[in-house]
This record gives sequence, structure tokens and C-alpha cells, in this order.
Amino acid sequence: MSFITEINRRRTFGIIAHPDAGKTTLTEKLLLFGGAIQEAGAVKSNKIKKGATSDFMEIERQRGISVATSVLAFEYEGTKINILDTPGHKDFAEDTFRTLTAVDSVIVVVDVAKGVEEQTEKLVEVCRMRNIPMIVFINKMDREGKDAFDLLDEIEQKLGLRVVPMSFPIGMGYDFKGIYNLWEKNINLFSGNSRKNIEDTIEISDLESKEIDKLIGEKAAYTLREEVELVEGIYPTFDRDEYLNGHQQPVFFGSALNNFGVRELLDCFIEIAPKPRAKQSEERLVQPDEKDFTGFVFKIHANMDPNHRDRLAFIKIVSGTFERNKPYVHVRNKKKMKFSSPNAFFAEKKEIVDISYPGDIVGLHDTGNFKIGDTLTEGENINYKGIPSFSPEHFRYINNADPLKSKQLFKGIDQLMDEGVAQLFTLELNGRKVIGTVGALQYEVIQYRLEHEYGAKCTYENLNVYKACWVEPTDPKNEEYKEFLRVKQRYLAKDKEDQLVFLADSQFSLQMTQQKYPSIKFHFTSEFK
Ligand code: G4P
Repeated sequence: MSFITEINRRRTFGIIAHPDAGKTTLTEKLLLFGGAIQEAGAVKSNKIKKGATSDFMEIERQRGISVATSVLAFEYEGTKINILDTPGHKDFAEDTFRTLTAVDSVIVVVDVAKGVEEQTEKLVEVCRMRNIPMIVFINKMDREGKDAFDLLDEIEQKLGLRVVPMSFPIGMGYDFKGIYNLWEKNINLFSGNSRKNIEDTIEISDLESKEIDKLIGEKAAYTLREEVELVEGIYPTFDRDEYLNGHQQPVFFGSALNNFGVRELLDCFIEIAPKPRAKQSEERLVQPDEKDFTGFVFKIHANMDPNHRDRLAFIKIVSGTFERNKPYVHVRNKKKMKFSSPNAFFAEKKEIVDISYPGDIVGLHDTGNFKIGDTLTEGENINYKGIPSFSPEHFRYINNADPLKSKQLFKGIDQLMDEGVAQLFTLELNGRKVIGTVGALQYEVIQYRLEHEYGAKCTYENLNVYKACWVEPTDPKNEEYKEFLRVKQRYLAKDKEDQLVFLADSQFSLQMTQQKYPSIKFHFTSEFK
């Protein structure tokens, strides 16, 4: 197959959802269609079980699963599909945000009964900011839930999307009869026991056909005709360019658990979803079909075995081909590197591969050379941007509990931060180190891993911080900025990239500071330049 054909047949995407909406179940059904797995139950949920905070076996188990499910690749109808795993648990939201820099599109799973939930809102907002094409899958139609029109309204209002229903449910819950596919103009009947099977669809060229009355009953047929008319009246018709630009979001209904509506979703997905897209670097826009390889690290996973310090760095290939044993340049530290065993991912296995194409993910063994956001190229000075840090929600001082092991502690902290487990801030006033995290769970993970992987012990001390704001002065030389640096010194810190951060202790003090120093901008993310 030619290089261009290889690029065009790839679809790299993420499934995002609030925990429990059905992401794992849907992933598994997609893999079943691809023949990548033989039976249901093969994909492990990477959900954090309740009570996991005090159960480190659970955390370790999670880490194992999270390597296995980081990338799930399979072939379907000649398309190479790469699903990137995105943890739904809010304490790992940062990980998901980073993974979203490596996807070309997403599928958003919404629970028909619960509607739009908190994590869905946050993740969709990130996708909207980046104009990532999104398809919405409304799941659990076999259960009683919200009225379809109300739910579509809710999705538009809360997520700020412009929905285009591609299918429409016939009843729901106990009365769920099936789905009318507006995209292919056919009806898919729900038998309730189609669990693992792939059901047949019934072609309906004319909605007025009496055939429908026979299939689903007169009453349901009447309602369906009315609802389809309403859908066609209210919602715009599907426009692929609008979808690709992030201005329109097709919606499907189904039940992942019953494998219902999933094939329709997949068939439409491979037809409309984007092939690997061009990516903006600090220097220029890079097209996937350029001859020279470029790629970036979006995830680092530490080895599960504490005796081996090596890690797996996940690289998204943006352009060219990535080849085994070919020298590439690590742009940040200007080093040439070769990789003798790059891993590619297939369903739940990883294998060494000789060549990978744009859209693919390769896992490279790393002994500490990579940081999240690093770029690899064939020599050109390209730096991919767009892996921002967001303000953490929790802040604690980290103290060394074993003075003989301070070297180990700093090395451990350094590497865990490179992996993106949490963020480190160093206070300007006294050099004390502060760890900022999205969720409280990370503190226990860090403490446990420092001890078990680096032989270091730490304790924490609470610190009252509301938000970390990255500071951007209009003019670093003006008096106002100098005064700010002097007056607020106690609240200033440097992040790992040496950027100045203001640790506001309350919303009120942040507002006061913003008013007092109007020429300074305060950002909640590190990406503002
Ligand atoms: P997640 O990865 O998004 O967190 O969700 P997951 O797929 O694990 O699904 C969460 C729960 O919802 C699971 O039940 C799953 O079986 C159920 N579920 C998923 N899709 C459907 C659907 O279409 N209809 C119905 N009725 N249920 C669905 P659980 O009881 O938490 O787990 P399990 O014991 O069934 O594995």
C-alpha cells in the first residue's frame, strides 16, 4: 500500500464520557466488530473502584490496565482504527486533556438517563476549544431515560454543540423498539436479546410505508413519522465540512451493552471521521503526507516493575513514517536517538513494528529522556505545541521524610512530574516545593511510588491555594509589574518550565490582584503564548 493510502485509511480518536456512561462497553463492542477480540468482557475497565484511595493494589492494577488499554488498534473494512484511552475519573482529567492533543476526532458517550454530566462538560469544552470533530452517542436506550428531544436540547445548551441527529429512537426503556437511521434510511429493530450478535437492519425507503406499522405497531409508527418530521424541521442537515470544522455534531442513539446502534455508529464514523490531520507547530503547520517523520510525546507510562526504571513514551506520528532503528532527533535536548524495539498496539497486545504511519501511536522505551510534549523529527527544528498544564485544584508542600534519601526524592519527583502525574511549583521566597494535583488521589499515588520505585519517603503539609495562575506582564519592565513582584513575593512560584506562577489563596484575593495590577494577565493554563 502506498504511503498516502496508509494515511488516508487511518482514523485515530478518543472516546470521552463521564464515568459509567458506557465508554468501556462501547470500546469493547467496537473491537468486536473489528474482530480484534472474540468475546465480550475482554476489555478491562480502567475505572477507579470506590475506596481505591486506600488500596494500592488497586492503583497498581489500574496502572497495568492503563498501559494495556492506552491504545487499542484494529482493522475494520480496510480502515485502521486507533482508539486512544481517556480516563473518565476526574482525578485523571489532566491525562485525558493531554491525550486529546493526539486524537483527530472524538466520540462523546452520554447516558440517556443521566444526560450531560460534569466530566462530559469539561472534556467537551476542551474539544470545542480545539475544534476537534465530535460525534455524540446516546447510550443505554434500553433503559428509561430522558425524552430524546429534551436530551438533544440539553446537549446543545450545556455542551454548546450544534447537534444533527443521524438516528432516532423508537420508544425507550421497556418500550424501546429500535432505531430509525436517518443517515441510511432504514430501521433497526431491537429484540432485547441481541447482546452479542450483530442484528439485521430493515431497509425502509419510504417512511409512509405500511411495512413500518406492521413492524412496530401503528401507534409507534405514527409517533415515529411525527418525530422524524420534527427532527427534519428543527435540525440542520448533516454537512461534513461543518462537522470536520467542529461546528456540527452528529448524534446517534443506541445501547452499547446490547450491541445496538453500534454498527451504525461505526459505519458512519469510518465514512465521515477525519483521517490524520495537519498539526500546528511553533514553527509551521505540518502536513501528514510530508516525507520526513515528525511526532510528539503525549503520554509517559512508568514501568510496572520497580527494578526497571525504564518507561514507555507514547508518540503520536504526525508526518512521514517512523522506522525501527532509524536515527531521529530529540528536538529539546538536540540528541540523536535510535529505537530498536518500537511498540505498536493491537487490541490488547503490543508488538514490535518496523514501520508506522501518521495517525499511529508508537510506544518507545525510555530511560528518562522524554518529557510530555517533546518532539522527535528527522532533523528539522519543529516543536509541537498544545500540551498545556491547567491550574491544579489541590496544593500541598512536599517534605523529605528521610534526609539520607534526598537525591532519590528529587529524582523521583522529577520523573513523576515528567510523566505528568502532578505539577511541581517552587516558591520564590524560600525554594520550598509545592505539588499541585487535579485530585487528592494523586498524593497517595506519588507517596507510594516514591517509596516503591525510588526508595524515598515524603510527607505533605497543607497549603491554602485557590488557583495557580500563570503570570503574563504586558511589560516586564514597568513599575506596576515590579511592584507586583515585590508585594506578592510570598505567593509567587516557578513551574517546571521556569514560568512565573501566582498562587492565589482565594477567589477574592485573585480579583483584588487583577484589579490592582491591570496590566498583568493571569492565566489558568500554561498555554497562552
Ligand atoms: P465507563 O467505561 O464509561 O465507566 O462505563 P462502562 O462501560 O463500564 O459501563 C458502566 C455500566 O453501565 C456497566 O454496568 C455497564 O454494563 C452498563 N452499561 C453500558 N452500556 C449499557 C447499555 O446500553 N444499557 C444498559 N442497561 N447498561 C449499560 P455495571 O453494573 O457498572 O458493570 P457490569 O457489572 O455490568 O460490568
